[in-house]
Amino acid sequence: MKRLCIHGVTGSIGRQTLAVIDLHPERFRVDAISAGRDLRGLAEICARYQPRWAVIADPALYQEAVREIAVGAPNTQLLAGPQSLCELAAHAEIDVVVAAIVGAAGLPSTMAAAQAGKTLLLANKEALVMAGDLVMAAARASGATLLPIDSEHNGLFQCLPNGEADPAHGVDRLWLTASGGPFLRWSAEQIAAATVEQAVAHPNWQMGRKISVDSATLMNKGLEVIEAQRLFDVGPERIGVLVHPQSIVHALVEYGDGSFLAHLGAPDMRTPIAHALGWPDRIASGARHLDPLSLSQLQFEAPDHARFPCLDLAYQALRAGGSAPIALNAANEMAVEAFLNGVIGFTQISALVEETLRLMPVSSPGDLESVLALDQQARRLAGESLGAFSSL
Ligand SMILES: NC(=O)c1ccc[n+]([C@@H]2O[C@H](COP(=O)([O-])OP(=O)(O)OC[C@H]3O[C@@H](n4cnc5c(N)ncnc54)[C@H](OP(=O)(O)O)[C@@H]3O)[C@@H](O)[C@H]2O)c1
Repeated sequence: MKRLCIHGVTGSIGRQTLAVIDLHPERFRVDAISAGRDLRGLAEICARYQPRWAVIADPALYQEAVREIAVGAPNTQLLAGPQSLCELAAHAEIDVVVAAIVGAAGLPSTMAAAQAGKTLLLANKEALVMAGDLVMAAARASGATLLPIDSEHNGLFQCLPNGEADPAHGVDRLWLTASGGPFLRWSAEQIAAATVEQAVAHPNWQMGRKISVDSATLMNKGLEVIEAQRLFDVGPERIGVLVHPQSIVHALVEYGDGSFLAHLGAPDMRTPIAHALGWPDRIASGARHLDPLSLSQLQFEAPDHARFPCLDLAYQALRAGGSAPIALNAANEMAVEAFLNGVIGFTQISALVEETLRLMPVSSPGDLESVLALDQQARRLAGESLGAFSSL
């Protein structure tokens, strides 16, 4: 019986993780969960799974959360605040941590799980973008097992020998696929006028709002290129992106002998979640199986860098190294939030990221505190530019 901590349990990945766990009550016990602000969701999940601990990350909601959770889960101990996320991720009685908080807020608890030697199931790509070197080094030092949940990286992990992209084993190049998002066939003028509802209406995947906007700008793929560099230690020149509107092939590994190994599956996050939860076994996910006879129309095309400039900005940040990916991520988080709140237009997301990258000097953070300080610096710079953008 594996004892789980699910951070971000009220979100899309958190709930899909619970759906897989429901199929295997003999394998997994949900001992710790956390939410950001969704009290009702947290209370409902506590009542259903009776975890030992629950965290509401926003401390201002603690008293209300105590009342909500006491009704259905009187034995669950409620904690509050970001530090509690780290304490549970590192707790001696937790075996597996599912890192499914969205954004930079997930970094400290992801790092805590890596340092504590846990089996770390990683959905929170922003943590690796910001501090991938530090998280990977902490995992190596502690003996933590890091398993990617992001579908493309999970696919790569499955197609690589021992999950490693070592050129000595003939691995040439990694390919990530992108659906292209809802604006794949839209003109630049149409994209400039895109509304929030149009941006979050992803054609193939049901996801949280932030990653849905990231998919529409292709920043999601840019973040994933950086995530792949961190996870598999390959340079940007060995990571390619293909637009594949059907979202059936999630990733390809190209070998020196001309072979390509591809990972295929229905676009359903329960498949990579089940792979990581069960690893090294294979367990049922509840996802629909593909009918191979329905696969006669798999299309691949090059991304359009002019209409989707975020992809190039991510490669630029990865090549610049050091704090540049931190600035990229911070500016993107602020820009997406501003877009979702109606403060800026869709094309200003990439403009704000580009401006922040231009303004932020590149430095090399050596520890988590420095990474978090650089994240704050980038947010200040992005905030100043945002003020100028939104008054235009
Ligand atoms: N959804 C997908 O299909 C998918 C696929 C691949 C990778 N990912 C990655 O997985 C992560 C989660 O994505 P998602 O789509 O599941 O997002 P989501 O639906 O928006 O859920 C985000 C979760 O994070 C919690 N949260 C937000 N701010 C927090 C904070 N400051 N402190 C603690 N918890 C906080 C939310 O809590 P409340 O709702 O309670 O506020 C919620 O539980 C992202 O990094 C995303 O890129 C997602």
